[in-house]
Amino acid sequence: MHCDKWFVLGAGSMGCLWAASLGHKGIIPRLILRASSERQHVALKLRSDDQAQYFGVDVVCARTINGSIDRLVVCTKAQDTLAALHSIEPYLNDNCHILLLQNGMGSQQTVAQRYANHVVWAASSTDGAYLPAPFEVCHAGQGETWIGPLTGVSTNGFDELLHNFRLTVRYHPAIEEKLWEKLAINCCINGLTALFNCRNGELLDGGVKQSRLDRLVVETCSVLHAAGMPALPLHDRVYGVCQTTASNISSTCRDARQGRATELPFINGFLIDKARSLDVAVPHHHTLMTQLRSRGIR
Ligand code: PAF
Repeated sequence: MHCDKWFVLGAGSMGCLWAASLGHKGIIPRLILRASSERQHVALKLRSDDQAQYFGVDVVCARTINGSIDRLVVCTKAQDTLAALHSIEPYLNDNCHILLLQNGMGSQQTVAQRYANHVVWAASSTDGAYLPAPFEVCHAGQGETWIGPLTGVSTNGFDELLHNFRLTVRYHPAIEEKLWEKLAINCCINGLTALFNCRNGELLDGGVKQSRLDRLVVETCSVLHAAGMPALPLHDRVYGVCQTTASNISSTCRDARQGRATELPFINGFLIDKARSLDVAVPHHHTLMTQLRSRGIR
């Protein structure tokens, strides 16, 4: 049955994964696309563990939303989030809970300020998904998703996600700590994989790539420490992600290969800004960003 109150904004891999997973629970959301589509209804294909399931969802765009939004899961790229939200703003209910699933940091805080009269949540996810074709999502790696309010409101508008949901979702009262953890890992892996145009596992080459990875880890730890974040065994975590996702193409490397804008301004860009404000030197992050820019990767 379609559930009038739930909407998913963005039909990329995470948007389709979330829409299909909500459908699996019987909460069939409407999927908001950037542009109008000839189709009003799609059969969303979810592939995982060699199985395929289909979920019928209505697709709408900002002009064709018919109704008001109570629960919104935002799955756009970090750089597109504010504009995408702005386009659907008239449909947001006063009590709307907005869950942000962007990579990196900065965009969530901007949204929380801009939409201070709504309940804004952020999520940090390690689920791996890719889109082999439009509306066909492959859930490649079962991860976990931490969610928590950014605006300090304690009512749980997303209770339904915490139990009997095919994605593992957990509540975290200090979600910014989780966002920092993922940011720190992405700061070390994503830009380097884009620079070397390689899979995550290839960073552990015992040579040039790995030593650059190690230097990024050290610098990132200094920024985490200066920002007052809990200590993190970042070296082990980064190596662990490189090993467990060894054959993955990182989201940034994939964007770079396709000539799309990456989320690096919200990953290493955010870290560099933070380091500057905390007076921490991060020369290897600067070098990485300069080299990426010189290759047209932004
Ligand atoms: O951005 C990504 O692709 C992922 O966060 C990660 C952890 C680098 C794995 O590919």
